Amino acid sequence: MSRDLFLEHMTASGVGASDPKFAHVQRLFAGLRAGETRALARAVSLVEDDAAEAVTLLDACRESLAGAERVLRIGITGPPGAGKSTLVDALARELRAQGRRVGIVAVDPSSPFTGGAILGDRIRLGEFAADAGVYMRSMATRGHLGGLAKATDDVLTVIEASGKDVLLIETTGVGQGEIEVVGLADVVAVVLVPGMGDSIQSLKAGVLEIASVYVLNKADREGIERLEQEIQGLLVLSAVVAPAGVKADAPPILRTVATTGAGVADLLAAMDAAPRNSARKSAVRLGAGAVPDARVVLDARPVMDASPVLDHLGIAVRSLDASQRLYAALGMAVSGVEEIASERVRVAMLSAGESRIELLEPTESDSAVGRFLAKRGEGLHHIALRVPDLAATVAKLKLQGVRLVSETIQIGAGGHRYVFVHPTSANGVLLELVESAYEGERS
Ligand code: CO
Repeated sequence: MSRDLFLEHMTASGVGASDPKFAHVQRLFAGLRAGETRALARAVSLVEDDAAEAVTLLDACRESLAGAERVLRIGITGPPGAGKSTLVDALARELRAQGRRVGIVAVDPSSPFTGGAILGDRIRLGEFAADAGVYMRSMATRGHLGGLAKATDDVLTVIEASGKDVLLIETTGVGQGEIEVVGLADVVAVVLVPGMGDSIQSLKAGVLEIASVYVLNKADREGIERLEQEIQGLLVLSAVVAPAGVKADAPPILRTVATTGAGVADLLAAMDAAPRNSARKSAVRLGAGAVPDARVVLDARPVMDASPVLDHLGIAVRSLDASQRLYAALGMAVSGVEEIASERVRVAMLSAGESRIELLEPTESDSAVGRFLAKRGEGLHHIALRVPDLAATVAKLKLQGVRLVSETIQIGAGGHRYVFVHPTSANGVLLELVESAYEGERS
């Protein structure tokens, strides 16, 4: 941007040319455009602190970027312990070897403040500390009333204006803002490692949806084959639920050993080649057309095709005995009364043709049903659908970003497996999914 244009911005945003703040912001902007690391660091601080001059500075940065091709933003996410920081360092090394300048923003959505972040960044920078081609910044939730994602976006804009060629966004936590933050990226790498148990289960549902690339880090470890199979299984499941006719590429799965740099060049090449999220957001990226033929056999499993059926309606009642009178008068037989200790309820099942009515009487007032009664009174508590393969259904729902009350499948009375979909994901209805009938009644 020309100096005149900059002056215009400053004046338009109410900062007079005689204002000392004007000179300050002007110096910062000139410095960061010239690639001075100190000026960039101060400019980022200004924006991060949401200072009054930040608006002017951001406008100037956006203006300077207008018309230019947007630089590649790479998001790196995954569970703690996946080696994301080491991978980011390895990517930075590879990018520098290619002569590309790098901005790194490490965001911790779960951390309430950044104590000594700047010092931490210097330590973290290590080998890049003297390299003006690498800029690193840590961010946390502190002070970002407008949202961490917006604050991160602003910081990225300033770093981009300083002339970096690639921006790496690393989420270091697993807090609420993680998906929004990593969603700022054009391509998203989901990093997983073998031997972490349910590493895939530990991911937030939406993370898998935005993956452009799966990175299996620490690939020299035992369990790498199983991990890759797990992810391929997820891709198959997602292909099943994708709307017909949507063709897109399935995210590639790449292996790295970040500590040695093995596979990092290939990973970078895959991310350079990956479709950018801006074009992907409206499209389902895992269309059935992208699934290799060998997997179509799996897709055709009859279990995936069967529709759920209404298994039962759950009604919260104060007294099983009192409420059963109505159903007795209707000629509906009670098929069993039992106490489910884990849920702190007594349950009476009433046959109703193909379905059933489940009367729920709390055994304790602070149980889920007890609290429901206190808040809403007696009434319909949940509906339950029976699905043929609960694990497959849960995996599909997670891919769709559906919120579950509990992330894992519960085992109820009589060994039936169940899970609850949170009302916020089911139009205000608590939705139970069960795999088999209680007490083997149906089978
Ligand atoms: Co139920």
